[in-house]
Amino acid sequence: MKKIAVLTTGGDAPGMNPAIRSVVRYGISKKLEVVGVMRGWWGLINEELKVFNHHSVSGIINQGGTILKTGRCPEFRTKESQDRAFNTIKKYSIDGLIVIGGNGSFTAAHHFGTKYGVPCIGIPASIDNDINGIDATIGTDTAINTALSAIDNIRDTATSMERIFVVEVMGRDCGFIALSVALAGGCEDVIIPELKPDWEKIYHDIVQGNIRGKVSWIVIVAEGAGRAVDIAKQITEATTLETRAVVLGYVQRGGKPTAFSRDLALRLGEAAVDSLLKGEKDLAVGLCCSKIKNVDFATAIQKKEIRAEYWYNLIKTLT
Ligand code: F6P
Repeated sequence: MKKIAVLTTGGDAPGMNPAIRSVVRYGISKKLEVVGVMRGWWGLINEELKVFNHHSVSGIINQGGTILKTGRCPEFRTKESQDRAFNTIKKYSIDGLIVIGGNGSFTAAHHFGTKYGVPCIGIPASIDNDINGIDATIGTDTAINTALSAIDNIRDTATSMERIFVVEVMGRDCGFIALSVALAGGCEDVIIPELKPDWEKIYHDIVQGNIRGKVSWIVIVAEGAGRAVDIAKQITEATTLETRAVVLGYVQRGGKPTAFSRDLALRLGEAAVDSLLKGEKDLAVGLCCSKIKNVDFATAIQKKEIRAEYWYNLIKTLT
């Protein structure tokens, strides 16, 4: 292994930059040449590469986003694009590829790596925390703290004006962010893709809370389970109580990575390079029970089990 490449793909996540820094600097310390691929799979298809040195990654450890840029690349599903990407790998004598991204990125890396014999190692980075077999993806902790800070602010208005709020957080297929902020924010209910909502109970709880004199009520909804605006309307109609909707959206994806997101990124960067040096391929490195371990891509891309009922019951018990 002499030359490796690194790319970021899918939605940006806070901590991608520290992960790039770690891959580049640790790779160089192991006498590897490290090349950055711009714009995810697009960069491989269109030969957009940058040779990195130690200084190329200076000053990025505390920055959200990714200096390599990122994006979704549906074209990478076609054979023509994959052939072009493989030609770039051959032309630039790249011996191994590190893919920083989420579920969709690992699915692509799994197919591309096995089909063309390119050793690929994944570093899980997505605010959704949707990679199976590991505890935490890079960026989730930052996104949760950003959302939580907004929810704390909303609580002030909810309490002062005695209102119900429905707050929509990110999470297309995975309700992890919603469960985490609902518990940490002391929220009264949460709606996620993994659990079918019991609307009658939700309305009943709100009305009973109101009768008891409860002055604020926050329902968190993961975007994959419904839209805040529709749910707020539904609640107003069913309970006759004033309900407002807030969509937190992309503010959750940006911003300075927290210490947890940075440390995780820096540790996983090292582990991914080591993995390539050991001759490993077709797997992701990830945090599991406080240790870094390997998870085959085939396992990592399965639907993640988030113990939704356990979180939900705790949230409801503590409100
Ligand atoms: O990266 C994960 C995520 O933020 C999801 O929570 C969300 O559904 C999706 O990305 C949004 O994707 P895009 O940035 O392509 O609109």
